Amino acid sequence: MLRIDSPDSRHEDGTSWRLRDGADARTALNADPDAMMMDSRSKCPWVAPLPQDVARVPGMLSDEEKRYLYWVARHAFEGWGAIVDLGPWVGCSSAALAAGLRDRGAETKVHSFDRFEWNRGYMECHLAANLPEGADFMPIFLRQTAPVKAWIEPQKMDLMRGSWTGGPIEILFVDAAKSWELNNAILQAFGPHLVPGKSRVIQQDFRHFPTVWFPLVFDSRPDVWRQVEAVESGWTVTFMPQRPLYGEGGLAPEYRAADFTFEDVCRIFRRRVDDEVGAEARVHFLTGWLCASLLHGDKAIEALLRQEIEGLRSRTRAAEHLPEAERCTGFELMNVGKLQAAEDVGRRLMQQDPGSAAFAALAGIAAIRLGHHAVASECFERVTALDPGDVNAGLHLAEVHVEQGHRESAMQRITAALRSLSKDDYKDLLSLAFGVYERWCWKFGTWPLAELKALSARFDSVPDYHVLMAISLAMTGNRPLAWEALRRALTIDPVHARAREIETRYGAER
Ligand SMILES: C[S@@+](CC[C@H](N)C(=O)[O-])C[C@H]1O[C@@H](n2cnc3c(N)ncnc32)[C@H](O)[C@@H]1O
Repeated sequence: MLRIDSPDSRHEDGTSWRLRDGADARTALNADPDAMMMDSRSKCPWVAPLPQDVARVPGMLSDEEKRYLYWVARHAFEGWGAIVDLGPWVGCSSAALAAGLRDRGAETKVHSFDRFEWNRGYMECHLAANLPEGADFMPIFLRQTAPVKAWIEPQKMDLMRGSWTGGPIEILFVDAAKSWELNNAILQAFGPHLVPGKSRVIQQDFRHFPTVWFPLVFDSRPDVWRQVEAVESGWTVTFMPQRPLYGEGGLAPEYRAADFTFEDVCRIFRRRVDDEVGAEARVHFLTGWLCASLLHGDKAIEALLRQEIEGLRSRTRAAEHLPEAERCTGFELMNVGKLQAAEDVGRRLMQQDPGSAAFAALAGIAAIRLGHHAVASECFERVTALDPGDVNAGLHLAEVHVEQGHRESAMQRITAALRSLSKDDYKDLLSLAFGVYERWCWKFGTWPLAELKALSARFDSVPDYHVLMAISLAMTGNRPLAWEALRRALTIDPVHARAREIETRYGAER
């Protein structure tokens, strides 16, 4: 049985901590944990407020994280290498770094790489730009960073296929490694340009609970990575490579979740939690670890971690994120096919907070996939009662009604959803709408061509619309027009999965 309590010495308050071996690891933040707990600011060198002209740039960073970036560029940067910002979004991180350069009188530029493609799912709630999905937001970046534009070189780049030809990198700020794959791609493209013992790699998401790859990839190689700084308020942790990243004895070319056993996860997270000084940081890692236990299905460890988080709850607000973390893990469980576990998580969260539409939606989606139609119906009735404008929930309810054979009520929900949607809505939502419509057609053997044609002006640029048109035309005997509709779908989206599947399956019959 794996121990999850630390073998290390404990504070009087019962919490555990331990400094890493070696004086070098005693960072500005955790050089003296007890003193830091009393007054963090007195020890942090990044206390200077941000200059007004960049402080107002919208962003997803904490105030301390912005001050830290400003301090890094103004005081820690030595000038022998480049400053690279991966994932600056509308410019907050780039502006803080650039202002540091400006205020020290440097001429160096921050190289800011981003796809600059709007993702309504998580961007619109941080900045109400009202841009359609996928829209180019470089103009917003340029506007927001205008006061320090002379110190920024922005460039569009998909970091899954990133490259760097600008010489050694002194400061690499990363706020785009949002998956195992992106983290691998970023390390491979930019890692060879880091200088051992000198470069800083600033990982903004290091303490964020869903990004479990950071503690696993970085903390599993203390011979490669040495932690040098960390903010107290926020998720940012900074490392310095101790050796070239690749070549003999270096990092694996790629990391995957499957490379780490659950025992590895527990060992690495235990050490990380114990090394963290602040209660907030500890709770962030305990939360990530608890989510890993949910995914692994280890209820004993899960229970112990809940207890440990509860013990810290009164000292930090970080524990408030736990239900949301569990909700996200519920969707991960669904992605790996653990549907019953996902439904269980959703139902437990629903009991905990009956007023949350998001928890009911998790349980509902898992229940639909499990074929638990009564449960799914109850969940989505709750979601739509809590938020009548939730189109997603309305469509899921329609899906349940289709399965239950309720022809009229299902169609009412589909029609209502389509009325409120437009071509600029999320791709996934549009796919769901036309997917549920298609199921309705198959279930009731009805192919409403006239109704579909009436939607053509509004959804002409939506591939899912043309796929449903193609199927309806084929089912009503009009094969030439069906193929035309399918071609239209594939012209808009050449890799559209359903369109490709139909083309492959029926193409030979043409
Ligand atoms: C959390 S936001 C960054 C917030 C920003 N650093 C700030 O200071 O507010 C993540 C950014 O990563 C970018 N991103 C995500 N995946 C990417 C990819 N594959 N290539 C390039 N950029 C990507 C997104 O466009 C987004 O701007």
